[in-house]
Amino acid sequence: TTYQVGYFVGSLSKTSINRVLSRALLRVAPPGLEFREIPIKDLPLYNHDFDADYPPEGRALKDAIAAVDAVLFVTPEYNRSIPGGLKNAIDWASRPWGTNSFTHKPSAVIGASPGKIGTAVAQQSLRSVLSFCNSPQMNAPEAYIQFTPGLFSDDGEVTDPTTQQFLTDFMADFKTFIERVLTVLPRN
Ligand code: FNR
Repeated sequence: TTYQVGYFVGSLSKTSINRVLSRALLRVAPPGLEFREIPIKDLPLYNHDFDADYPPEGRALKDAIAAVDAVLFVTPEYNRSIPGGLKNAIDWASRPWGTNSFTHKPSAVIGASPGKIGTAVAQQSLRSVLSFCNSPQMNAPEAYIQFTPGLFSDDGEVTDPTTQQFLTDFMADFKTFIERVLTVLPRN
């Protein structure tokens, strides 16, 4: 079986280290996972006035999530939480009320920062949001990546074998997790 995975990059920066990390993750992913990015940068700022008539950007987001078996969040930490742009996208996807796109959608979270805690606090914040959105999350392994110069090439080649193995295992475990969740909670 091949599973479709939609991934979110939490940073809108052209030089995002988390985008580099996303490239690395795609490189080391096991066979049987297919990836597409779910873009967030063109979404207006959400408010519930939109619920009566979702704009094309909001519909496209919800359609993109509906089309995949699982979602992967690759995000920076901003002020000990997730970037506003990513939270905005999650808010869009969670509404209109009764149509939350994350219900029963398996997820995993990972992130990179130059600092040693490697987005740990942002990931805890994201996990709270995903819990409320009823997304079954891969709890382990956790993945806090300290982005040091040269650890990845720009196109996501991993230079350090230990990191390469860690990321390879992370993606293999994510595939196993998706399989397990879909056994219990099949897609409609
Ligand atoms: C940061 N940065 C940061 N790093 C961290 O480890 N914990 C934090 O709370 C924050 N807070 C924060 C806030 C804001 C507004 C910015 C712009 C940056 C530093 C951050 O990890 C670094 O800029 C990364 O390069 C951001 O990831 P991307 O955008 O390169 O993927």
